Amino acid sequence: LENYIAVNESVYDYEPGSPERARLIEAIKDARTKVLDIPMIIGGKAFKTDTKKKISPPHDHQHVLGYFYEGSSDHVNKAIKSAMKAKESWAIKSPEERALIFLKAADLISGPYRAKLNAATMLGQSKNVYQAEIDSACEMIDFLRFNVTFMQDIYKVQPFSPEGVKNHIEYRPLEGFVFALTPFNFTAIAGNLPAAPALMGNTVVWKPAHTQIYSANVLMEIFREAGLPDGVINMIFVDGPVAGEVIFSHPDFGGIHFTGSTGVFQTIWKTIGQNIGKYKSYPRIVGETGGKDFVIAHPSCNVKALATALVRGAFEYQGQKCSAASRAYIPAEMWPKVKELMAKDLAEIKTGPVEDFTNLINAVIDEKAFDKITSYITKAKKSDEAEIVFGGTFDKSKGYYIHPTVILAKNPKYVTMCEEIFGPVLTIYLYEGSKYEEILETANTTSPYALTGAVFAEDKNAINLAKKVLYNAAGNFYINDKPTGAVVNQQPFGGARASGTNDKAGSMLNLVRWVSPRVIKENF
Ligand code: NAD
Ligand code: ALA
Repeated sequence: LENYIAVNESVYDYEPGSPERARLIEAIKDARTKVLDIPMIIGGKAFKTDTKKKISPPHDHQHVLGYFYEGSSDHVNKAIKSAMKAKESWAIKSPEERALIFLKAADLISGPYRAKLNAATMLGQSKNVYQAEIDSACEMIDFLRFNVTFMQDIYKVQPFSPEGVKNHIEYRPLEGFVFALTPFNFTAIAGNLPAAPALMGNTVVWKPAHTQIYSANVLMEIFREAGLPDGVINMIFVDGPVAGEVIFSHPDFGGIHFTGSTGVFQTIWKTIGQNIGKYKSYPRIVGETGGKDFVIAHPSCNVKALATALVRGAFEYQGQKCSAASRAYIPAEMWPKVKELMAKDLAEIKTGPVEDFTNLINAVIDEKAFDKITSYITKAKKSDEAEIVFGGTFDKSKGYYIHPTVILAKNPKYVTMCEEIFGPVLTIYLYEGSKYEEILETANTTSPYALTGAVFAEDKNAINLAKKVLYNAAGNFYINDKPTGAVVNQQPFGGARASGTNDKAGSMLNLVRWVSPRVIKENF
């Protein structure tokens, strides 16, 4: 491991006739012909209960991919016990031993499991082949490999030792267990949230979102095949609040690694605050949460690049990326050209099931999301302050399909300019190009979030002004690029303000949160 250097995993393009395309098609076929039975895994053992819940592809909700078994607070307690027991041996393993297991997992995904994991993400979360590839293959592999280099970098940080003294930092895991509470929208995030603390010597209770269990099950299979000892990661399928009630009142609760919505994170933080006297240590709280990500165009910008960024940034994975462009500010004089270019791009995008690789837009995750997203569209249709310029149509008869929708808002504070919708809806506000500085201020104060944002301009002064005014408005700030698609080790990812604790997934800054260092001074 001494000379280990991680590099970003190459993205396959799944060209017709390629062997990786053939393998993926086979894996999809295989998954569609089976009905899986997915148990919880606690201490390496499978747990089934009397509560069996159906898993269906969001784009084909009558098809059954499998069932998972929902657990109760008993299972949460079992998972905590199992994590605490496993920690006795896991925490004292050498960092190299732990690293080799996660590197093996990365190799398994890069090779034999790539098609199976991508197929699970495509079917279970309705991601097209390209979106699955950059998520469950490349980003997952990158997290696992780069985490090892970040860990090595952390261990190298040691204090100065003057003559006659040896000062040393021991990077121990946190006291207690870590709770990984993960979202539906990225398989890689769901996998990294338990894997990163575990690499640093912690043991974990992992609760995936119910809508991601189908691919979580494959990840767990990979971790175990890579040699992860029983109990290091315990995967439970329990209703969030039920799990929270046990975990957040447990004396051994050592930290939470969360990604999900801002509202859920704030509820969790309050609960932890109320229970603070119960814990042996102050729990580490790491949470990456919602966004209302902006694109701002300056009159000097490249219109073609802007239009492409708007379409890709807003609609890839049906706008269900925390980083998705969801509000844009465009000079009014530019709009006819932007509209024409967007119309051209949108006309080429087909909506439909993931099994047909030419469908770039698939379904949103479930009926609840469908109803929430379409309620914004329905209200916009009736509002004097909004006009639907593209899309606006939806249908849930076979799958939860919503066509890419663009709303033009007459008021920069119109509801769809402010609230996270988490679907394929982009709202645009047209401003007078001479009022660029004013619009930067408006963008800065319109939403409580600060996850991603992009500015398009050729004029260097306009770029510098945006950097200054929007200093705290985005944890990931893009200049002349779409606000999505951060790559591990290239754009460490996380937001400020209501978007999270900004502990930058895909960097050393995240890994360092999973240690509780002890400094030893020894005179000799
Ligand atoms: P969510 O908040 O609904 O769920 C996240 C997890 O919390 C799930 O496992 C869920 O079951 C659990 N949960 C829900 N309510 C709970 C409660 N009361 N107590 C305990 N657990 C509870 O989020 P989601 O719909 O899965 O994901 C979408 C959200 O995640 C969006 O807001 C998106 O912006 C955000 N997100 C942020 C990032 C980021 O890096 N900032 C990345 C991905 C997603
Ligand atoms: N890492 C994901 C992106 O940047 C969330 O789009």
